[in-house]
Amino acid sequence: METGSTIVGLGRYAPERTLANHDLARMVDTTDGWIRRHTGIEERRIAAAHEASSDLAYGAAREALEAAGTGPSDVDLIIVGTATPDMPFPNVSCLLQDRLGARSIGCLDVSCACSSFVYGLSVAHGAIVSGQADTVLVVGTDTLSRITNWRDRSTCVLFGDAAGAAVLRPAKPGSGFLSFALGGSGQGRHHLHLKAGGSRHPASHETVARGEHFLWMNGPEVYKFAVQTMPRAAADALRRARLAPDDVDFVIPHQANLRIIHSVSARLGVPMEKFFVNVQRYGNTSAASIPVALYEAVGAGRVSPGDVGVMVAFGAGYTWGACTIRWGGAA
Ligand code: ACO
Repeated sequence: METGSTIVGLGRYAPERTLANHDLARMVDTTDGWIRRHTGIEERRIAAAHEASSDLAYGAAREALEAAGTGPSDVDLIIVGTATPDMPFPNVSCLLQDRLGARSIGCLDVSCACSSFVYGLSVAHGAIVSGQADTVLVVGTDTLSRITNWRDRSTCVLFGDAAGAAVLRPAKPGSGFLSFALGGSGQGRHHLHLKAGGSRHPASHETVARGEHFLWMNGPEVYKFAVQTMPRAAADALRRARLAPDDVDFVIPHQANLRIIHSVSARLGVPMEKFFVNVQRYGNTSAASIPVALYEAVGAGRVSPGDVGVMVAFGAGYTWGACTIRWGGAA
């Protein structure tokens, strides 16, 4: 690629309240041991009553802009990935634009569930390399606690709330994002969805009585899909960048379940030491999972300029996406 794009600043916002596994054991028929064994999760954050996804996004975006040494007035495009917008419309990116005091720029929400951040990076990269934008703010934010059925032990132990943000700017040739591999298959809609509240099943007393305003998931089916698709997507992104698994210095996988991450490591042929994992402290935060993990990996010194990294996600839809990046290299 002639011109590229790269990440020049990262931010994170995590709500203050922590819900530990023993707290959940008092709410549903589960145990700390079961949750740790089956998922690796120990605790998750839960948004305060006054916090919605745009509030979480704002906290992460402010930190990312500051880290990038830039301000809201420099941003040319805002992309927000979320499955839990404050409301069906207006979109979260418009709410964020107003709250940040940014100019009247393009504001786009991406609805690819847990894959939204990788999809958002791909759109941002395209906007920069095509000359439509110079500085793009990409945020992943989700408040899954608001669509969780707290009586369903098979799902309520899995999720948490958070936001992560990245600022992208042009990169020198050969640096920054090297490839993207995105995918989707609507066949997966039967296994993971939130049925009511849209134009097919508008919210009504009946849909609420049936609990159709909550996320519903066939866990074992989603598990099978994840362990097959994530390594394939990551390998596809590596191939497109003419890289091999041995070239990889770090991997930021979607943080859904520690067992899934172990399986991806084995199938991709990249050792676990190169995977950054924080699912134990956050649970699955959907669109926020990859940017929060990347933020913490960079903060922990696990990513250095010139390192080659892979980010790989899967989510409802089904959707999936992976990208490769050579860290640093801002033009
Ligand atoms: N505590 C105790 N027992 C439980 C719990 C719980 N919280 N949840 C389920 N069980 C029981 C089940 O009832 C079942 O009991 P049975 O054998 O008597 O019927 C037993 O545990 C095993 O259940 P499985 O569902 O087979 O357990 P599994 O090992 O598959 O783990 C899990 C379940 C963790 C949900 C796993 O399937 C998984 O991680 N799936 C992928 C989930 C995922 O990644 N989702 C991403 C969503 S992305 C997005 O877009 C939002």
